[in-house]
Amino acid sequence: MREIKIGILGFGTVGAGVVEGIQKNGALMAERTGIVPRVAKIADLDIQTDRGLVIPDGVLTTDALAVINDPEIDLIVELIGGTTLARTFTLEALRQGKRVITANKALLADHGKEIYRTAQENNTGIYYEASVGGGIPILRSQRAGLIGNRIESIFGILNGTCNYILTRMEREGLPFAEILADAQQLGYAETPPDLDIDGIDTAHKAVILASMAYGAPVPMSACSTKGIRGMSASEIANAEELGYRIKLLAIIKDNAGEVELSVEPTLVPKEHMIASVSDSFNAVFVKGDIVGETMYYGRGAGRLPTGSAVIGDIMEAAADKLNDVGVPVSVTMMLQRDSLTYCSADNIEKRCYVRLSLEDKPGAMAQVMTIFGKHNISIASVVQKERHAAGYAPVVILTQEAKESEFSAAMDEISALAVSRHVPVRMRLEDFE
Ligand code: HSE
Repeated sequence: MREIKIGILGFGTVGAGVVEGIQKNGALMAERTGIVPRVAKIADLDIQTDRGLVIPDGVLTTDALAVINDPEIDLIVELIGGTTLARTFTLEALRQGKRVITANKALLADHGKEIYRTAQENNTGIYYEASVGGGIPILRSQRAGLIGNRIESIFGILNGTCNYILTRMEREGLPFAEILADAQQLGYAETPPDLDIDGIDTAHKAVILASMAYGAPVPMSACSTKGIRGMSASEIANAEELGYRIKLLAIIKDNAGEVELSVEPTLVPKEHMIASVSDSFNAVFVKGDIVGETMYYGRGAGRLPTGSAVIGDIMEAAADKLNDVGVPVSVTMMLQRDSLTYCSADNIEKRCYVRLSLEDKPGAMAQVMTIFGKHNISIASVVQKERHAAGYAPVVILTQEAKESEFSAAMDEISALAVSRHVPVRMRLEDFE
């Protein structure tokens, strides 16, 4: 048996999950790999709070740099979050040739290029399975099982908090804010939770998936991002009636050599597997040119699922260190190309759901249809319910595929019509065909 000494920076929700997992199953990991994982140091500014774990004397410290500089420590696990101190500590550990494991998607989305390059220059590795999809080994699947495939598309439900909120809104009709408070209590949400509900957390994960799929660090600016803030129960009910569910979906496609990347609330057909992914679960649907369609499912947030992904990386990094692997595939795959070309948000072709509130008088619908026609948007279905308050009727339209720029121009014109009340609501519709 060989032993590997681990230094953990950050003893919050995930840090505690990692320590708990190693305490529970460390012996099993050692039996399976011949490597004994030993948590030698844990650094956190708060070393008083009880995390419900027994930590041997001398392991807890408030000095993160001392952990990185300790020559006895082989692996550094960065779980402090944020992008300032986390970046400094990660780069310092890599410069010392140490292998770094992180769950920090914001760090990789914002500073990935610098971090992968620093790892490469110092003949070491950065491992980041826990940054995407919590407990789902999606990055490992991409860089191992699917290594022989060109990735045609990836669709992901990547935020546990949003999926939990949408699921409970659909099932229980509860207000958004009340469900968000539950998600925070369950340890799913970011601090602040705006990162979840505005789609930023999903976008961080989407750019990491896209970077690995297409071989260069993708900037956040390449991802057109919308969240679920302000989602109303009536949209969820309308979608349901038409045979769809609303999911916050990351969409990544190889669009004839251009990378298409977006995060937005999207209607998905109820019969598609991805529509059945509920609560805090995440799922990633990947199409490869050799394998075809594959799907990966699991808990995307929370102490133990994310801890499980970190532990997987710890054992891989330990084996790489002990076997003198040098720069691992988790780094080389991100640095295959200097840059990529992106499909601009305006050029993305998509189907849409549109809800209008239209005055109930002759010619109102005709005016709307004329605008759609002028912008080359074909209508797939229209549902108008009988008159509601003050002579206005809700109209729900599903369109065929058209360009984003045409949709946005059409919506501006429809909003300006005298017969239209409220700004129209519009969401993407994806039928995976
Ligand atoms: N806030 C994230 C989520 C946690 O809700 O999925 C995991 O990244």
